[in-house]
Amino acid sequence: MAHHGGGGGGGSGTGFFQEDEILGKAYDARLMRRLLGYLRPYRGLVIVALVILLGLSFADVAPPIIAKFIIDNAIAPAVSGQIPPEEGFSRLVPFGALYIAVLLASSLFRYGQSMLASYVGQNAMFDLRVGLFKHLEGLSLGFFDRNPVGRLMTRITNDIDALTDMVTQGVVAIFGDVFVIAVIAVVLVILDWRLALVTFCSVPILVAMTAYFRRMMRESFRAIRIRLARVNAYLNENISGMAILQLFTREPRSFKDFDALNTDLLQANQGGIRAMALFIPSVNFTRAGTSAAIFIAASYWIVGGQLTIGTLLAFWQLVERFFAPIQDLSEKYNIMQAAMASSERVFRLMDTEPTIVDPPQPRELAHVRGEVRFDNVSFAYNEGDWVLRDVNFTISAGESVAIVGATGAGKTSIISLISRFYDVQKGRILLDGVDLRELRQMDVRRHVGVVLQDPFIF
Ligand SMILES: Nc1ncnc2c1ncn2[C@@H]1O[C@H](COP(=O)(O)OP(=O)(O)OP(=O)(O)O)[C@@H](O)[C@H]1O
Ligand SMILES: [Mg+2]
Repeated sequence: MAHHGGGGGGGSGTGFFQEDEILGKAYDARLMRRLLGYLRPYRGLVIVALVILLGLSFADVAPPIIAKFIIDNAIAPAVSGQIPPEEGFSRLVPFGALYIAVLLASSLFRYGQSMLASYVGQNAMFDLRVGLFKHLEGLSLGFFDRNPVGRLMTRITNDIDALTDMVTQGVVAIFGDVFVIAVIAVVLVILDWRLALVTFCSVPILVAMTAYFRRMMRESFRAIRIRLARVNAYLNENISGMAILQLFTREPRSFKDFDALNTDLLQANQGGIRAMALFIPSVNFTRAGTSAAIFIAASYWIVGGQLTIGTLLAFWQLVERFFAPIQDLSEKYNIMQAAMASSERVFRLMDTEPTIVDPPQPRELAHVRGEVRFDNVSFAYNEGDWVLRDVNFTISAGESVAIVGATGAGKTSIISLISRFYDVQKGRILLDGVDLRELRQMDVRRHVGVVLQDPFIF
């Protein structure tokens, strides 16, 4: 937070919102470990969800294989006259029943899996949100001078939403996709290793393609996030400062500035769409090419009697499934990248320590008389920018005193210091002869009544 140097009041410019522009990797082991810590209370459910996910992967791969047996063992022999048609029908029954059972199981798994993932994800992020609010409550006022409300709101709402997306969609889906790809690869080799080799020829092409588009998407995603953060910052300042804006008849100028930022955002969004619009057809084209290669090789082998039609059909369907996770990759990549950036910011906030802390052994204030003494107090909000210099005064218990001074003289600062909202740099403030820093903040504030000049009631 060292970047904010200026005095209080109108912090401005995009530099103030730099933190919202952090964009890191799509995967960061340190952040991930810390995030997974929030899943620990739901350990049991996570394990159940993973088991269901594995079941779901198998249920997704099974239908093409069952179809192969239906064709090779029932339909093809009956059509070619190897077995009587009745025999073909009776063979169809168990396979058909199995097919339906698998589809049913797959639907059930999918239901259970999405319910569980959402339940765990939402609850873990609920805990994080509560923890973050509690942490915010404990931070010292100096922190809130430096951090605009809009930014802190974003942490608790948008950033945690991004994390929820990751837990409920990103991680689960990536895990499931990797598993599906592995299972399909093994099944392809078992079904027919020669056709499997033909299929795997597409893998290097796909890897190169995703690497290329990932870089492209990363750039455009980054550009979008940065522009969006700027638009948000600008809106935040202009809406909260609407009275000033209108007083100085700045409407046309603000409009022009906003228009420029908004145009920038539009262009960045279009860049992202271009990347996506190229990626999906490229994957589709590779998939179609792979299917064509499979059909050519398979027809050759089928005519030679080395391959069955059922195997070809199973291959064709499995290859379609093999490509689906790759197509989703771009979307998941964005989810992961957004979540990593969000978690970085959320954890940075979590790790911000309060600057005003209670002493390890606080003095007890049993009965407060109410004597306030400033003993050589010097105080600055920002290093070297003294607001109070060597201030000495004593207000006896029961005495009424008015502090009078020009605006900005430091009256409110004195009141804030008596409540220990800030610590003095030099000297000490005594309540009934006890240094405020030896007391619990709670005790001090319980005994100090303050009516501030800006009414804020809720
Ligand atoms: N949170 C803050 N961070 C940095 N500087 C601050 C902060 N609050 C006040 N200041 C600065 O400290 C000085 C004293 O401000 P303070 O609010 O105590 O004056 P005041 O006497 O209460 O003025 P007023 O009569 O306008 O209420 C001013 O120069 C002000 O700009
Ligand atoms: Mg004041």
